[in-house]
Amino acid sequence: MRNQNPMLAQVLRLSPVIPVLVIERTADALPLARALLEGGLKVLEITLRTPNALEVIATLANHLPNAMIAAGTVTTPQQWEAAARAGAQFAVAPGLTTALIERAPSAPIPLLPGVATASELMTALDGGFECFKFFPAQPAGGTAMLKAFGGPFPDALFCPTGGITADTAPSFLALPNVACVGGSWLAPASAVQSGDWATITALARAAVSLGHT
Ligand code: 3PG
Repeated sequence: MRNQNPMLAQVLRLSPVIPVLVIERTADALPLARALLEGGLKVLEITLRTPNALEVIATLANHLPNAMIAAGTVTTPQQWEAAARAGAQFAVAPGLTTALIERAPSAPIPLLPGVATASELMTALDGGFECFKFFPAQPAGGTAMLKAFGGPFPDALFCPTGGITADTAPSFLALPNVACVGGSWLAPASAVQSGDWATITALARAAVSLGHT
């Protein structure tokens, strides 16, 4: 059983880092996204943690056809469907529930579910998923945990997220079962609030340079 579009693995490999974005002001969405794309990133995760998140996703999906827009912090089938309607191309969840597994066969867009333990990974693999957000990556065991997953679960591919920095990202990206990492360090709140897009482009450019060697 496969419940995840095989294209998702290719999407995760588009850029070494997926910026995890919490956008408070819709007006910041386009300049922020353009700054990140200017730096060479291709996939942006907009978390559903602000009341305007779906509006932000719709704005980016409409104006930036070359960007891959993901909806993050999706925890229910209803949010998954709303994200798809807004124009997100895939959804990211911090974990995985029975309701999400049951919705997967008829879901409008792929889901990258979160896992943190071997049992969660087994449940998700049984549910037909092959690509995972390893969350919260650093507190849940970091690179040592991912190396350990590689033995019993050689086909699982990960996007570790949570507590990763520009300094620690390379050690994750060096692992064969890591497609990319996620992180919020690319869009510091102070830079977004002050409209310092040049700083954000520089952070994105540095993140792109972390790509697989
Ligand atoms: C997430 O939502 O995926 C994480 O909170 C991002 O983690 P970070 O802020 O530690 O990068």
